[in-house]
Parts: sequence; C-alpha cells; structure tokens
Amino acid sequence: MSIFNDTEKANIIELKKVSQSYDGGKSYIIKDLDFIVEDKPAQGQFVVILGMSGCGKSTLLRYIAGLQQPTAGDVLIHDEPINNSKRVGMVFQQYSSLPWMSVLDNVSLSLLYKGINEKERREKAMEIIEMVGLAGHEHKFAQYPTLSGGQLQRVAIARSLLANPEILLMDEPFGALDVNTRLQMQDLLADIWLKFHPTVIFVTHDISEAVYLGDDIYIMKSAPSHFVEHIHVDLPFHRTRETKRDPHFVELVQLVEDKMVEVSKLG
Ligand SMILES: Nc1ncnc2c1ncn2[C@@H]1O[C@H](COP(=O)(O)OP(=O)(O)OP(=O)(O)O)[C@@H](O)[C@H]1O
Ligand SMILES: [Mg+2]
Repeated sequence: MSIFNDTEKANIIELKKVSQSYDGGKSYIIKDLDFIVEDKPAQGQFVVILGMSGCGKSTLLRYIAGLQQPTAGDVLIHDEPINNSKRVGMVFQQYSSLPWMSVLDNVSLSLLYKGINEKERREKAMEIIEMVGLAGHEHKFAQYPTLSGGQLQRVAIARSLLANPEILLMDEPFGALDVNTRLQMQDLLADIWLKFHPTVIFVTHDISEAVYLGDDIYIMKSAPSHFVEHIHVDLPFHRTRETKRDPHFVELVQLVEDKMVEVSKLG
C-alpha cells in the first residue's frame, strides 16, 4: 500500500511497484513507484503532479492512459488492468486532435468506436462542444490556425470527457497558451470539474495553477522517480480569481515553492 492511501475508500487508479528502464535493467528512471488515487464517488478529485523536467510525470500519465506499459509493476483502474474498452483520454501540451477531421468528428470519435449511432453521437458531442464553448465551430477542421490554441485544447478536453467522463488526464495542457487564454482555460476546467466531478490528474510546472486547481498536490523527485511530498489544498471550491488574493492561497503557493526547492536538492 502506498503511503498516500490513508483511508478505506476503493481505488480508482493504482500504480503498484511500477518501474521503468530503457536499457534492459541497467538503470531505472522509475523504480518501485506506488501511487493510489482513491475513488470518492460523486465527488471526484483534482490531483496535480509537480516535479522537475524529466522526472517521469508524462510517463506516469502514459501508463494510466494505456499508451505505454511499465518495464515492471501493475497499473490498475478500478482494480483491473487497463483495457481498450475503458480507454482514458489524455490532453497533451501539443495539440493532439486529428487535423483532417472536423471538431464534431474529433469529439465524437470514441463513440464511433463504441458502435453508437450517428444521431446519438452527434447529440452527445454537441452537448459537450457547447459546454466547452465551441458551439458554432463544430464543422471546422480541428487544426491550427483554423482554430486557436485555446480552442484546440477545448476540443481535446471535450474529446477526453466524452471518451471517459470519469478520468481526465492532462499533461501541461495550458503550457503553450498565452496568459489570458490560460486563465480562461483554468476556469473552464474548474467549471467542468464542478459539473462532472471527474478524477483529474493534471501535470503542470506552474505552482499557482497547481494550487488554484488542485485538491491534492504531489511532488515527484527524479533518479529514480518517487513521490516525496503531498500537499492538501484546503481552499474551498468554487475558486475564483478572488481566491488568488486570499492570504492562504499565497501561503500555499509559497509552501509548495519551498517544497519544490527542497525536492530539487534531492535530485
Ligand atoms: N524512449 C526513451 N528512451 C530513453 N529514455 C526515455 C525514453 N522516453 C523517456 N525517457 C526518459 O524518461 C524520463 C522521464 O520522461 P518524462 O517525459 O516522463 O518526464 P517529465 O517529468 O514529463 O518531464 P517534462 O516536465 O520535461 O515534461 C526522462 O529522463 C526521459 O529522458
Ligand atoms: Mg512531460
């Protein structure tokens, strides 16, 4: 059991003794890593992972998305190994939509794979497209510059939510956006979270973003990768721009920054 599993609740995501080597076991980037995200039914949670570049954050998300298998160890969702029928969507820093398809087709693609008919696919996709603020753009190609960077990330969020509204994996999703768009996207994500209560695992390098969005923040160290700090963000939801002026918010940002500096000294 992980040191982070401190209640009796079931697990939604569990990494058990996960290790990663790229040289046949001579060296390990990740070694015996345990990580548990609990299922809080009808509540969801927002987990943020921070850590220095190269420490293995994207690798962990790729495991959970089923895009990569660790050299050793198990990756379980609801106590079962990842399988194709319950794919978890991922939003990347680079725009990852299929540029030769429309917004509507990108968002509804997972429903096509599930054998759902066209009418229902369209209805469900349009509901989410409206929610992420893309109504009117559904027939445009999902490509830059037809759509802006922020709009393309909205497509990716909508696509992931429709594929599996329970778990949303996000790897520096707003890293390439300008400041204003980034702030808008943070608020969109907070709204989605309040509406759907998914379990979000969100990787960022931005400490203020981590505290603004996160329920729980985990800090990773590298060589080999481990989670070394857990900070619970005891700020109420719904958070607004005012929250950022709350002295406790400022205190938490400072605390996380101090921990990051300590962790960087560990390697
Ligand atoms: N195919 C590969 N062969 C060798 N090393 C690899 C391979 N893929 C990833 N790595 C190494 O694994 C480590 C973890 O990579 P990962 O992309 O998970 O880091 P990260 O924490 O997401 O970094 P960043 O913050 O820069 O995105 C890095 O040191 C990287 O060089
Ligand atoms: Mg990464």
